[in-house]
This record gives sequence, structure tokens and C-alpha cells, in this order.
Amino acid sequence: MPDMQDDSRGELRQSFFAKQQLISAAKTAFQQLSAVLKNTTLYPEEHPFLRASAEKLLGTIEALLVDRKEVAFYIVGGELFFETLSVPIDQSLSLLMEQFTSRDVSGIIFKPGLTEMELIKFAALMSKEPAFFTAQGGITEVITQEGMAHIELHRVMVVDKKVSGAIKIGKKKVAEIYIDAIETVKEMVHAVHLDKAINMRQMNTTVQTMVDNILDNRDALMGLTCIKMYDEYTFAHSINTAILAISLGSFLSFGKSQIAALGVAALLHDIGKVNVPHEVINKPGKLTDEEWEVVKRHPIEGAMILSDTPGVTKLAMVAAFEHHQHGDVQGYPWIDDRLQQHPFSHIVSLADAYEALTAARVYYKVQISPEQAIRILVKKRGNVFDPTLVKAFVNMMGIFPIGTLLKLDTGEIGLVMHQTRDLMRPRVLMLSKFDGSEKKTGAEISLLETVGGKYKRSVVGTLDPAVAKIDLKTYLG
Ligand SMILES: [Fe+2]
Ligand SMILES: [Fe+2]
Repeated sequence: MPDMQDDSRGELRQSFFAKQQLISAAKTAFQQLSAVLKNTTLYPEEHPFLRASAEKLLGTIEALLVDRKEVAFYIVGGELFFETLSVPIDQSLSLLMEQFTSRDVSGIIFKPGLTEMELIKFAALMSKEPAFFTAQGGITEVITQEGMAHIELHRVMVVDKKVSGAIKIGKKKVAEIYIDAIETVKEMVHAVHLDKAINMRQMNTTVQTMVDNILDNRDALMGLTCIKMYDEYTFAHSINTAILAISLGSFLSFGKSQIAALGVAALLHDIGKVNVPHEVINKPGKLTDEEWEVVKRHPIEGAMILSDTPGVTKLAMVAAFEHHQHGDVQGYPWIDDRLQQHPFSHIVSLADAYEALTAARVYYKVQISPEQAIRILVKKRGNVFDPTLVKAFVNMMGIFPIGTLLKLDTGEIGLVMHQTRDLMRPRVLMLSKFDGSEKKTGAEISLLETVGGKYKRSVVGTLDPAVAKIDLKTYLG
């Protein structure tokens, strides 16, 4: 990784470890809650075993309450969240979560002043059949009647609406960001054609907006990279590569200024192509040897253009020069004294390759699914791509990246919208009509949802959007 002098890097690293610690404490609390629930079914209220398990749970909650006003757990689509952090769960905890959701509970909030006795009462209540609560007018009413003042429950509907609302707000904004970015890149290419300087101020603002939004809501901008704009493809390719590179930088906990520099480098990586004739760049068939030699010059042309551009970081020049060098002999430009490429070049190269593979229709007429593209990168790790980076990229994208169409064992079809903790079990939008109407009306479900401790739905395969005659734009745009 690059030598990072940036203070924010240290902060990010620190917050990364703090986050992991929080997640682990939250998991412990939920496991202890599970133990208390089990013990209420085995022992009477005063039994020391039951008291001891409640005391442990209270201790963990109190420790979490030291620097926050309340300890809040949410269950959304089979996933457990502590505040906004996703908490990994196993089979036994998934059964506990089902126990809550079947009683219309999707949020459990513990407040300061909580007692052992309240926890025991709460656990005993949760063991009652769902019908009991319906008869009493709902679980929140029962909680109030029983005098549990330091436990607050949220009902399933409220939380789901909140989450889907947040996602929709994010989407409207990102489409605008994407269109603005296309304009910036177009102007930049135009300037280079006219031998004018690139407007680096505009470029930096565009990248900064992208970085801020990706740090905020990575999935929304990532969804847009799946829509291949064939008419504007040359521009879209740079933007998609930048979105992927920025996302990977943030996934690796780089500092914000480092991520921005990486974004600029990715956005400018193919700038040398302005000096390759249009007919060659857009030639649908195989290139002749001479044409190929011209294409292979674009990293050198790019580095030369950028070395002349005031305000551009040296890293962008380096990444433009190195992004096709890879670690093997087929890389270009070939130089005798082969140095190791800069880590930013490796990241840009990986993002570039994934983007080009998934847009393969432009060149080869066959569509490579996001899932196939991931497999190809994995195969090429080691000799072409940095293996550690490939691993991080797969962890970030998931085995089934956003925009993949999945065949499920229930016979249903789902479109991947978000990743979850489990790379094999993303959150999908259920499709039945394939005309785009599901975007408004369809249910988004998580493949982590269980019933009786077993997964409700699992992936059996993927589908090509072209074969299924689905226009991804209507869902992800
Ligand atoms: Fe390139
Ligand atoms: Fe490229």
C-alpha cells in the first residue's frame, strides 16, 4: 500500500478497529440475550442461573451505554444491525431473530436505568406465543403495561420504511452526480482535443462529490455502473472505473484525500485514448496488428498529456502509464527495467478490467455477467492482478455483484440490489413482470431471511439480463 502521511488515514484506521470492537460487543450482547431467553423457559424467575445470565447481559449493555444514550438493535430482512452496523449471526441467533419478527418486533432499544429484573421479564414475555400479543393489542402495549420503562420496542413496518426511504433518497441524487460526471469527462476530452489544459478544478470537484457519496452510500453509485451507456461508453467507462476504484479505496480504509487522488487517477487513466483514432477505439471486430500497436500507445500518450497538465497529481500520471503493465510479460508498455507498479496503478488496473469485462458487449457481442467477470479476475490473480487486491475487491463486490440476476430455489427471480455480510446471500428485488414496475411496488428481500432456522431462499444460478429481456436501467437508474 502507498506510504500514507495523511492524518485522516490514521483516524480511519482507528475508527475501523473501533467499529470491529463495537460489532463484537453487540454480538456478545445478542448472544447473552439469547441465553436469558432460553433460561426463562427452564428456570423460575429467582433461579441463580437465570439471574446470572441476566446480570451478564446487563453488564454488556451498561458498558455499551457508557458512550451512547441507548443501545439499539434492529432486525431488517434477516440481518441484525447494531445502530447502523451489520452484526454477523449464526443459525441459533437467526432463530432468535425469527422469534422477534414473528411477534412484530424489529427494533429493541435498551435505555440507561435498565435492571436485571426488566430483562428477565422481557425475556419471559418473548417466550409467549404471538397470538397472546395480538389479543392484548400488540407487544408495545404489553411492554408498557408490564412497566418495563427502560426497554423500547419498534414494530416491523416502521424500520423497513425508514430503510427503504433512505435508499430511495440516495438514488435520486446519484443519477444527477453521474450525469454531471459525464459532462466533466466530456469537457475534459474536448479540451485535450483542442490542445487546451484540462480544468482540474472542475475535475477535483466532480471526484470529491463522487467520493463523498460513495463514503455515504456506496451501493447506489455502484448500481449505476451496471448500466452500460453504449452511446456515451468512452466517458462512462472512465466514470465507472473511478466509482469502482474509489469504492475499493474506501473499502481498504484509505484516507479521504488518498481516495480522492485515486479517483482522479482512475477518471484520467485512459485520457491517452484521445490520441488514438476514433475508428480504432470503436472498431467492433478484431484489431489488425498495426491498430493494436496504436492502441497500446495510449498509456504513454496519457502520461505525456498529464505531465503537461497543471494541477494534476503525479500519481495520475503514473497510474495512466502503468494501468496496463500488470505483473506479466503481456502487459504494456514494455520497459526493460521493470519496476513494481504503484499500488494505485494496481487498483485502477483492477477496476478498469472489471468495468471493461462487464461492458464486453461493445467489443465482443457477448455479455459477461458481473459474476463471470469476478470469476475471471479471480483466475487472473497472482500473474496479472495483485492477489490481495483481488481478494478485497471480491469481498467488496460480493460473489453476485449489484445488478446480477439470480435464479432462486423457489423458482423466483431476484435482482441484486445490496450486499449483506454473506457474499452468497445479497439483498434482492423480487421480479415477476420484468417491465420495471417492480422498482416501485416490488419487495426487496434479503436472502439471509430464515424460517425455522433454515434459509427461505437460496441462489441456484444466474440469468443473463439480455436473455431474460430485462432492461437494468429501469431498475437501477
Ligand atoms: Fe486503458
Ligand atoms: Fe480503461
